[in-house]
Amino acid sequence: MEGRFIVLEGSDGSGKSTLALKLKNYLLEKGFEVEITREPGGTDISERIRQLLLDRNNEEMDYRTEALLYAASRAQLISEKIIPWLNEGKIVISERYVYSSLVYQGLGRGLGIDEVKKINDFATAGIKPDSVILLNVDPEKGLKRKLSIDGGDRLENEDISFHRKVYEGYRKLPHHFPEITELSRDGTIDEVFEEIIRILKI
Ligand code: TYD
Repeated sequence: MEGRFIVLEGSDGSGKSTLALKLKNYLLEKGFEVEITREPGGTDISERIRQLLLDRNNEEMDYRTEALLYAASRAQLISEKIIPWLNEGKIVISERYVYSSLVYQGLGRGLGIDEVKKINDFATAGIKPDSVILLNVDPEKGLKRKLSIDGGDRLENEDISFHRKVYEGYRKLPHHFPEITELSRDGTIDEVFEEIIRILKI
């Protein structure tokens, strides 16, 4: 495949959306063809799955169902959008990818990283990102920001111990996946952005 696949990962409220947009605009100005997407979502079918997943009324959702729905949303996004974009030689930026499932469902829900990786190996058909930028913020800080905006979605409303597991899980990921670079989120958005450009060498 010709294109380049970049993923921004990290805990809720870590600034992924702002940085993804900034990166997109930067690359467009440099003359690249760029597509941006998010998970769960990014296609009509995947956005409908997203609604199911994030609806606060779906209290009875089983954790396996949850993991499978995230994987299903991802499978659709990959086949309908990501593979064609990469084949057209575009730079694809995704907010979140498989790593979110490993950490939120594998560790946060306790389903196990290996189990969740198995269903995602099936869902992703071997499509791996070229680079993953990991932005991890202390759950107390990140969540406070998110919950104050709109009351938060189903996952954001999980208790703090869930989000602590997610945070700790993200910290361990780079040891297992060499494509991941973890960034400190101590700086300003502009400083973090400069760091991303340096890491991506673009
Ligand atoms: P996100 O779109 O990042 O939320 P927001 O736009 O509100 O920041 O993600 C929605 C939620 O889904 C988030 O709490 C993380 C969770 N999630 C998983 O649990 N597993 C996954 O595989 C993905 C992609 C997201």
